[in-house]
Amino acid sequence: MKILVTGGAGYIGSHAVRALIEAGREVVVLDDLSTGFREAVHPDAKFYNMDIHDGEALDKLFRAEDIAGVIHFAAFSQVGESMKKPLKYYDNNLSGTLSLIKAMVRNGVKYIVFSSTAATYGEPERVPILESDRTQPTNCYGETKLAIEKMMKWTGGAHDLHYVALRYFNACGAHPSGEIGEAHDPETHLIPLILQVPLGKREAISVFGDDYPTKDGTCIRDYIHVCDLSDAHILALDYLMDGGGSDVFNLGNGEGFTVKEVIETARRVTGHPIPAEMCPRRAGDPAQLVASSEKARSILGWKPRYNDLETIIQTAWDWHRNHPNGY
Ligand code: UFG
Repeated sequence: MKILVTGGAGYIGSHAVRALIEAGREVVVLDDLSTGFREAVHPDAKFYNMDIHDGEALDKLFRAEDIAGVIHFAAFSQVGESMKKPLKYYDNNLSGTLSLIKAMVRNGVKYIVFSSTAATYGEPERVPILESDRTQPTNCYGETKLAIEKMMKWTGGAHDLHYVALRYFNACGAHPSGEIGEAHDPETHLIPLILQVPLGKREAISVFGDDYPTKDGTCIRDYIHVCDLSDAHILALDYLMDGGGSDVFNLGNGEGFTVKEVIETARRVTGHPIPAEMCPRRAGDPAQLVASSEKARSILGWKPRYNDLETIIQTAWDWHRNHPNGY
């Protein structure tokens, strides 16, 4: 029985594929390489260069491979772009997943682990955020992911389809081997942008707002290592296959760091002064996003291994230093 990983050539997907293979699973990767990289796909995974909108091709894949479950990463994930091009996000994320789930139902594939996001919550009512808290996305990216969660819920009520949606907080870091890591174009995430300074690609890091109601005025986020996210996907799939009910889980460390603290940690890791310049707030940024991951810990038995920010940034630095231009 094989596991299909959509978006397995992307940042989080490629780490999950590696974790699955290291755990002895047989993996099939589906990716259209629109934002992913062929080099990121583990050589032991079978690769299909394919678009999830293509229902006939999905049918062929499901018939040719003995797929027991799907881990679904394939999506666009830039918050800013989603506000300028909402239909691109509805088309790829929502309609692409609709096509995938229809194919799963047609072919009797029962289990799906879905890559969701903390952006489903929007401005939190309180921190740490619980899965039962209000979901009111403040951007189109989060809205498409929330719509998919709901689509899976209603579909699961009518068909033999079981899902886990994993709401990640701030994914970061890279595989400790240094062989795969984060490569986005354009890059919008804080840690890789900070590391562009010691790499000589950027003069300074811009700090988006230092007038938030936090201890140093900068935004607080919950940074979670990509390998810890990978572990959670495998646990979630095993949970479903063992008869666990469909559910939603947060994935974070449960500890928040300010933008200034992240920069300071990167200075220590890289030994570079990393100049920072204060800039206006970025539209749509909540002051604080910190997860309660108690549910994933107690039900899935998940335990993040990288709960130290310095180690997390060290793995990112090892990757970027050795791959300054990505793949
Ligand atoms: N930031 C800066 N300067 C930069 C880039 C970011 O100060 O150059 C700040 C942001 O304002 C924010 C923090 O650093 O306060 C983290 O920003 P990221 O862009 O790295 O991450 P976000 O928290 O905005 O977004 C992440 C994921 C999204 C997901 C979201 C959930 O990248 O996919 O969490 O809220 F939707």
